[in-house]
Amino acid sequence: MTKFRFADTFDRFQSFHFASSEPGEVGPAVLAALSAGYRHFDLAHVYGNEKEIGAALKQAFDEGIVKREGKLWNSDHDREIVPQACDHSLNNLQIEYFDLYLIHFPICWKHTGLSTPSWGKSELGDTPLIDTWRAMEKLVETGKCRSIGVSNYPMMLMHDLVTQAEIQPACNQIEVHAYYTRESLVNYCLARNICVTAHTPLGGGQANADAWSTPSPLKDSVVNEIADRHGKSPAQVLLRFLLQNGVVVLPKSVKAHRMAENIDLFNFELTDTDMARIHKLDKYVSYKTNPNPLASFIGGKDAYSAEGTDIFD
Ligand SMILES: NC(=O)c1ccc[n+]([C@@H]2O[C@H](COP(=O)([O-])OP(=O)(O)OC[C@H]3O[C@@H](n4cnc5c(N)ncnc54)[C@H](OP(=O)(O)O)[C@@H]3O)[C@@H](O)[C@H]2O)c1
Repeated sequence: MTKFRFADTFDRFQSFHFASSEPGEVGPAVLAALSAGYRHFDLAHVYGNEKEIGAALKQAFDEGIVKREGKLWNSDHDREIVPQACDHSLNNLQIEYFDLYLIHFPICWKHTGLSTPSWGKSELGDTPLIDTWRAMEKLVETGKCRSIGVSNYPMMLMHDLVTQAEIQPACNQIEVHAYYTRESLVNYCLARNICVTAHTPLGGGQANADAWSTPSPLKDSVVNEIADRHGKSPAQVLLRFLLQNGVVVLPKSVKAHRMAENIDLFNFELTDTDMARIHKLDKYVSYKTNPNPLASFIGGKDAYSAEGTDIFD
């Protein structure tokens, strides 16, 4: 199994999200996505671009055509901080409520300030996940969020949450793609009417392959052969595979032609044989988040191995 250090993961976050938040870049990308037909934007406080995205989306929000989604960062899990963190993101985005608000990762880090989310050698905090969830439930009661959910929850933690939640999680946003299909977790969620949303649905594209020398499902010969037969691109086959498994997809691109390509998924269907062949490609390879070695703890007091601390050990 390929493992990645969390510091590398964060570098990727920075290049996808911070690099794309240069003035003048993320705003046009959001507007291009809107005109290509996208109506669901995956945002997060830690991506550091809420204000600029908020400005670009204001008109669309006013017209009521865009979903509002955000995420609670690891260093904002404490009970009293959760509503403040939610308000902070709402203010940045210039909106009054979230349609969907997610716990970004199932881990609590020490709070380091709303404008300075913990980064790098973070220290573990003391708030149990269920207490953070109770604070999330209050956000629904107070009208700040219409639905709440989680992200990067493995099955054991998902079950722990489901058995205790007063408001059930609406969604688990996880890494899923053809090389990391996570059938048990996906089926567990779908069986309980919990929406599964795939982040990294293309395996991170060429950027991940370049950064970590990982195999890219976009280059897979089976995927390419199926794509050729349907007159579609490899990306469209990978996304359609997830959709036909009942999974919502969150492909990311800053290029308008790829945005158009990645949403043009509803005029073809993969056969049962296609689906079975793609399922067999699973390599249990995580490109982003799970398993999740937290090399950010290296050198910190919460590093319990030379490689950091894996929260899923
Ligand atoms: N909850 C979490 O912890 C978490 C973690 C990671 C990601 N996410 C969310 O998931 C979204 C997607 O994840 P991701 O960006 O890591 O991975 P991804 O969508 O699998 O891959 C994006 C990469 O693929 C390229 N690409 C996009 N469309 C393509 C196409 N049609 N053909 C070839 N290459 C294509 C993009 O390049 P260009 O931009 O140059 O087109 C980019 O480098 C993120 O934006 C974020 O909202 C959430």
